[in-house]
Amino acid sequence: MSYQNVVRPLMQFLSYFEAPRVLEIGVDKGQTTFPLCHNLSMLERSWLYEGVDIKMNPDVAMTVASMSTIFCPSTEPNIPVPPNVLFYEKNSLEFLKDAVENEIKYNLILIDGDHNYYTVQKELELAQQLALPSTIIICDDYSTKWAYEDLYYAESEGYEENDIATKRQKTEKVGVRPAIHDFIDKTEGQWGVLPGPGVCADYCILYQTENVLDMRFHIPPDITLANLGILEIYFDNNKCPEVDESRMLNLDYVYQRPGPRSPIRQMTEAVDAPELPPLVGDAKQKQKILDEYRENLKNG
Ligand SMILES: C[S@@+](CC[C@H](N)C(=O)[O-])C[C@H]1O[C@@H](n2cnc3c(N)ncnc32)[C@H](O)[C@@H]1O
Repeated sequence: MSYQNVVRPLMQFLSYFEAPRVLEIGVDKGQTTFPLCHNLSMLERSWLYEGVDIKMNPDVAMTVASMSTIFCPSTEPNIPVPPNVLFYEKNSLEFLKDAVENEIKYNLILIDGDHNYYTVQKELELAQQLALPSTIIICDDYSTKWAYEDLYYAESEGYEENDIATKRQKTEKVGVRPAIHDFIDKTEGQWGVLPGPGVCADYCILYQTENVLDMRFHIPPDITLANLGILEIYFDNNKCPEVDESRMLNLDYVYQRPGPRSPIRQMTEAVDAPELPPLVGDAKQKQKILDEYRENLKNG
């Protein structure tokens, strides 16, 4: 599956960070990569997307090469500016181990590679070591067929000659969902899981329970498509110094943020947002209008 219906809602969360860094495990045809990189570029700041796949489709990097302001050394190794898109043809477990050794941290980790108990459990164990206090991990196939069945890409058509695909392993349990729940249990409450909102969501969101005050899914008025919702996450600022809400930018809609609530509520619950003037212009202009709006609210 792909993360299409969560990419846009995630942007408010990603806008909290000075230079958002995202890891996607399982790139495939780039259905998530393209919108995500486009949206990141709209934040108008430094950002880095890294994609890992055991079988990198060269068309993905070629398509990225056509996108202005997005720089990927896979297609242009001599590009004279810092890259913001990196692709690795590697097994996720190998990539994650290297990243742990190099003490890399990501704001967002998307796990959508091999859909089996063995791999997902190991990926999560490693991925948690790449997390900042506010990092969220999104796992796909939490509700689809592979939630309770194992898929090994090594046995799939087109992967017959792939030497880096993980071979089938003997495990007591099978499927993505038990791997996620076992990981959560092992962390003894440090990590929690919320199923993605909406009827078609097949992903879940893993977050650090101590650091998140509330998480909600806001559907702006007159909007019916979940893709256009906004995932609102309220962090405990004392525990998450990397989060700076003053950087918050809504690329599409502006609304009054209702403020943190505790404990975490159902994400399917929409927030009643007051009417706000529609915003036009570029991102900086939008941010200025949003700041002014907030200031006016503060001053009554
Ligand atoms: C479901 S697709 C990913 C879809 C993509 N995330 C999207 O949103 O469009 C799964 C991908 O994971 C890759 N894959 C399978 N096992 C992997 C592993 N151990 N490490 C990295 N990638 C893996 C496959 O080659 C395949 O391209």
